[in-house]
Amino acid sequence: MKDDDKPSSAEVATKFKQYLFPSNATYYGDALAIESASGIRVRDYDGREYLDFFGGILTISVGHAHPKVNAAAIAQLRRLGHVSTLYPTLALAELAEKLVRLVPGKLERAFFCTSGTEADETAVALAQVHTGRQEIVALRHGSSGRSMLGQSLTGHSKYRVVPSQVAAVKHAHAPYCYRCPFGLRFPSCELRCADDIEELIQTTTTGVIAGFIAEPILGVGGVITPPPGWLKRATDIVKRYGGVFICDEVQTGFGRTGSMWGVDGEGVDPDIVTMAKGIANGFPISAVVTTTAIASAWQGGNIATFGGNPVSCAAASATIDVLREEGLVENAASTGAHLKGGLEALKRRHATIGDVRGRGLMLGLELVRDEPAGDRTPAVDATLRVLEETKKRGLLVGRGGLYGNVVRVAPPLVATRRDVDDALTILEASFAAIGAVGSSAG
Ligand SMILES: Cc1ncc(COP(=O)(O)O)c(C=O)c1O
Repeated sequence: MKDDDKPSSAEVATKFKQYLFPSNATYYGDALAIESASGIRVRDYDGREYLDFFGGILTISVGHAHPKVNAAAIAQLRRLGHVSTLYPTLALAELAEKLVRLVPGKLERAFFCTSGTEADETAVALAQVHTGRQEIVALRHGSSGRSMLGQSLTGHSKYRVVPSQVAAVKHAHAPYCYRCPFGLRFPSCELRCADDIEELIQTTTTGVIAGFIAEPILGVGGVITPPPGWLKRATDIVKRYGGVFICDEVQTGFGRTGSMWGVDGEGVDPDIVTMAKGIANGFPISAVVTTTAIASAWQGGNIATFGGNPVSCAAASATIDVLREEGLVENAASTGAHLKGGLEALKRRHATIGDVRGRGLMLGLELVRDEPAGDRTPAVDATLRVLEETKKRGLLVGRGGLYGNVVRVAPPLVATRRDVDDALTILEASFAAIGAVGSSAG
């Protein structure tokens, strides 16, 4: 223990490692234990400060400890902490109304749970009871969480611990242009990966499906950003084969991509939208929003004990207000464009950066071996080293992608140009440092 009786970062990390499941992933060789945070900065137990460009895995939308969100949550907690949805509360009813007005298209009903996994699970069950069918098309490289169905929907072997998968899930190719599954290039590919969904349905299902679940940008998959027109083409096919479209906005929602929803501008109206992460600035809550017809198809009992917790609902309502009042969606677009420009400039100087992608403040850098020039072998070691080097210099970024070779850059939406320039300076120094110690790629 240090003088002030606070544990050191190492002591907290040691206790964590001792008592949590060994599978509980942490970043960095020496896990970073965080003690406090405000705005875009976090501090560890040793008093070191970091610029947080991963925002609690994209949950911290309006900045750590935002006074308005915290005040709303504390006021609600003083009044009423929890009663469950058996008893309507104003915090819950008001949030439902806000969400119904906020979502794209004409969706009228909300259901609350506590994680993205539960929201996706609920949405798939709804699609199945509404259509009376079972089969669901999901995406390779997509992510839907940790439950048995969540693991089955998720298109990453790494996140599947149990081999018996839910048979009704069929995985379509992801719109992964940098590693096109058909070896083609956009636009001359004419969206072959979207068209392939038709053959997937014709060859691997009964020929009619319950639905299609897709993220507008595949976050865990490494910020895979579909080309223009892909989502419309894919969802048109899905509709022709009787499926509903479940838009997974768990990562992309609430301004993250520079518009309120990741699906905005795609010319597609989802039948069901799932949301979590950024909804309440870190408070645990998720939601499913859909039409009355689809919601009414759930005829059995339906309750999530912690769903619609009033404290989380109050935090979510306040987060939505702050997004609007502080113009943070617009900021995500403009500051995000500035950040993306900086990352593209970085790519021109560092050959290991093979691709820069994403929108708004949801960006990724895919690192490749580039030896010989143009080699796209995933550079996993280089990615791990970039994380260590950025941490050393006071910047936190994330990691993703099937191969673990994508640096994810996603600060809270309050990030300023100055924050971005500071982060870019650190990234530049970090890439220079890994270059200097050799370019051995993993
Ligand atoms: C797009 C998407 N959907 C669902 C989930 C599962 O969310 P949770 O971890 O809150 O259960 C994740 C998690 O990262 C996600 O990225």
